[in-house]
Amino acid sequence: MFINFWYPACLSDELTNKPLHLKMLGCELVAFRDSKGQPHVLSNTCVHRGASLAHGKVKGDCIECPYHGWQYQGADGACTKIPSLGKDAKIPARAKIDRYPTQEKYGLVFAFLGDLPEAERPPLMDIPEWGQEGWAITRMNNQWKANYLRSQENTLDPAHTEFVHPSMGYQGGREDYSVPDLKVIERDWGVGTMTTFVSPDLPSSSMKGVKGEGGMEAGAGNHGPAHAWTYLHFSKFAMAHQYSFKQPIDQFNFKSFFIQFRTFKLEAAVDGPMYERSMAVAEQDRVVVERLTPALTPESSTEEVMVKSDLVITRFRELLQTWEDNGWRIDVDQMQAMKDKKVFAIPSPARRQLKGWAIDAVPLLPAKGTAQTSRQAAE
Ligand code: FES
Ligand SMILES: [Fe+2]
Repeated sequence: MFINFWYPACLSDELTNKPLHLKMLGCELVAFRDSKGQPHVLSNTCVHRGASLAHGKVKGDCIECPYHGWQYQGADGACTKIPSLGKDAKIPARAKIDRYPTQEKYGLVFAFLGDLPEAERPPLMDIPEWGQEGWAITRMNNQWKANYLRSQENTLDPAHTEFVHPSMGYQGGREDYSVPDLKVIERDWGVGTMTTFVSPDLPSSSMKGVKGEGGMEAGAGNHGPAHAWTYLHFSKFAMAHQYSFKQPIDQFNFKSFFIQFRTFKLEAAVDGPMYERSMAVAEQDRVVVERLTPALTPESSTEEVMVKSDLVITRFRELLQTWEDNGWRIDVDQMQAMKDKKVFAIPSPARRQLKGWAIDAVPLLPAKGTAQTSRQAAE
């Protein structure tokens, strides 16, 4: 799991002035809206004696701990009230928790889980179709008992469609099937590919008449470690563009917030059948991905036999390696080894400016090569 990327915290509609308990990247977080409706995402552990802030209350623009009533500001995580010290007491400088930058977009609340200053942050995945005429939207959210990188690789894999998705492939029933040579699309924070392939007619009623003559163009790519796009071009005019924002809960569980745009059958009555269809396709992927062994991608590529249709996956792994070399990958083994004795927090940007944090930042695998984060440069 990687720090220094934007992750979806929750749906915009889910977030109110009641605290929402979250777990992301193996760490506990709390989210809430303040009196002006601003979303806040903070580390969940009270630095007094470890209570869960998500089980406390939102008071104005602060979250109040349920144990001894300490209050922390949503805007910066600073403790502003320690009731046991009495009114006007001096608050110790170490009484603060990590507060993460947030943005609300695409009907979701995103948190930047890392300590990079604003100018250095990888951007959120862009959705060019958002707010454009001519696209209908359906949404889907689900949770899998699988590693999110295994699922990302499944999205980037053009060879599974034939076998996993009966409505799109021939289940290996065609002698002339093969995946054409892939051309890798390189973007700033991701890779992908588009290919043309032969596919059967789409039998479900919601897709009737959608597929054009000849082949269908489809492809997918990633944006950062946890987000992905999938384009399905059934014909020149009938297109579906899908975006998934994954939230790694921990190494073995993730949530996915999925938004699908389509240019065909725009009437609202089709939203339900499109949702059902997307859920069915996701379910076909889930049963395969949740059973992969080992649950995590093997550390060495010699433990698998990769072929040329796995090219985009290979490039994706190279990207992950560059982010690991930046010093952004969490050392989960070290975190796990200490889990009963120590709580960790994802470092927030304030850690670059302020000293004195009661809770240690998550351990990271060491940065390598010339890549250097500005945190290390400052040290
Ligand atoms: S543990 Fe939170 S106020 Fe004491
Ligand atoms: Fe799939």
